[in-house]
Amino acid sequence: MRTLSKEILEWEGKEVEMAGWVAGRRDHGKIIFVDLRDRSGITQLVFTPKDKDIYETGNTLRSEWVIRVKGLVQRRPSGMENNDLPTGKHEIQVTRLEVLAQSETPPFSLDTDGNDAGEEMRMQYRYLDIRRPRLTNNLRMRHLVQQYVREFLSARDFVEVETPILGKSTPEGARDYLVPSRLRPGAFYALPQSPQQYKQLLMVAGIERYFQIVRCFRDEDTRGDRQPEFTQLDIEMSFIEQQDILDLAEEMLIGLVRALYPDVILTLDKNGRMPRLTYREAMDTYKTDRPDLRKNTEDPKELAFGIIVDFPAFEWKEQEKRWDAVHHPFTMPQVSDVGEFNEQFEKDPGQIMAYQYDIVLNGYEIAGGSIRIHESELLTRIFEVMGNKRKDIEEKFGHLLKAFQYGVPPHGGIAFGFDRLMMVLQNEPSIREVIAFPKTGDGRDLMMGAPSEVDAEQLKELHIKVDKE
Ligand code: AMO
Repeated sequence: MRTLSKEILEWEGKEVEMAGWVAGRRDHGKIIFVDLRDRSGITQLVFTPKDKDIYETGNTLRSEWVIRVKGLVQRRPSGMENNDLPTGKHEIQVTRLEVLAQSETPPFSLDTDGNDAGEEMRMQYRYLDIRRPRLTNNLRMRHLVQQYVREFLSARDFVEVETPILGKSTPEGARDYLVPSRLRPGAFYALPQSPQQYKQLLMVAGIERYFQIVRCFRDEDTRGDRQPEFTQLDIEMSFIEQQDILDLAEEMLIGLVRALYPDVILTLDKNGRMPRLTYREAMDTYKTDRPDLRKNTEDPKELAFGIIVDFPAFEWKEQEKRWDAVHHPFTMPQVSDVGEFNEQFEKDPGQIMAYQYDIVLNGYEIAGGSIRIHESELLTRIFEVMGNKRKDIEEKFGHLLKAFQYGVPPHGGIAFGFDRLMMVLQNEPSIREVIAFPKTGDGRDLMMGAPSEVDAEQLKELHIKVDKE
């Protein structure tokens, strides 16, 4: 039976079998030390010339070879302990050694945190890069946070529902990724920029409390906190008000930080709550709608959440000469009905506020949401003032307007940028460090070589001619 590094303490004086990768080898005169890495940590192996065969094979071991050993767990001689390692008081006196796979010399060193290696190389050899404890730990914590939120929401009667990837685009302000349809020449699916319309339709369907950990796609320029495909923790609720959604989000975030990041300093207000500011207050005080509310920005262990409410509903798009939604067109303006809306829009569209909110963390926008318009007439009017013709509205949003004719509950929701949340929790400079296989700045996957050209035959099947000009 295989024993893991984290378990060897319990095996002192006994024989164990271990397997993993060679993380390093040091020759000290006649004794060879090998660090064995498995998923739980590092264990020191000792080879002495007593057993000539094993010793000679031990001598050939190189970094990243995969080995299986048997040996005796013993305490290291006093003065030889390594207090930086959880296993640092013990070592394995090897009595059997088997090489399971050899390895080429890795293109970069794996015993650093990786910040020294070029990003192109790291992305090209991501499967090696992930062997670093820093990256492995990021993925493990990501899993634990996902598990926490799944349990938190499930315990409160939320249902995780999967929505289509091949669907129709929801305008979230970015360009769509399109997928050509083979069966309908000239027609395309759009990959979801978010499941916004599907989750609203699930409210019409009576689900009442929905969530999903879901991939979203936006064809926009990549940055440190932005990827063309990223993950949202998406939530929608019926029969609630803004307050209810924000309270739920706040309880979940504080709970998960306390449970999984017990060592961080969580900066809250004097009532132990997340500070709530209006958009106006944030702009006046911090000159930004995603203020960094940490007391000491030098402190890598501090987390400061903040909730920003009352965003303006519309912004003027100079290039397109039209008003556009600050969040998305489904967001409820702070008006009582279409009449009041028309009146206010006539006066000054820029003054209309929306039931819209963001959650910020250490200066990053980690979530955004709103109460939705559930009245067809007002929704149609909003599409109109944003420059859509009646015909376009029917074509683009007819399905939603139609669904709203069949008993739509008042509803609202929020979506967390899950990668961004993990980036800040793990104190990483970029969301690429918390995603297993991210894209480069120019949207490429260097390991798989995507995007790539496809066969002429495939294009023909899809009725596509490529114009390379
Ligand atoms: P929004 O567009 O604000 O809202 O997105 C929600 C959160 O997703 C994160 N995010 C991104 N993260 C990484 N890369 C990207 N390209 C990227 N774009 C956005 C941000 C953001 O706060 N459907 C609405 C939510 C709702 O109204 O319920 C939506 O998608 O952290």
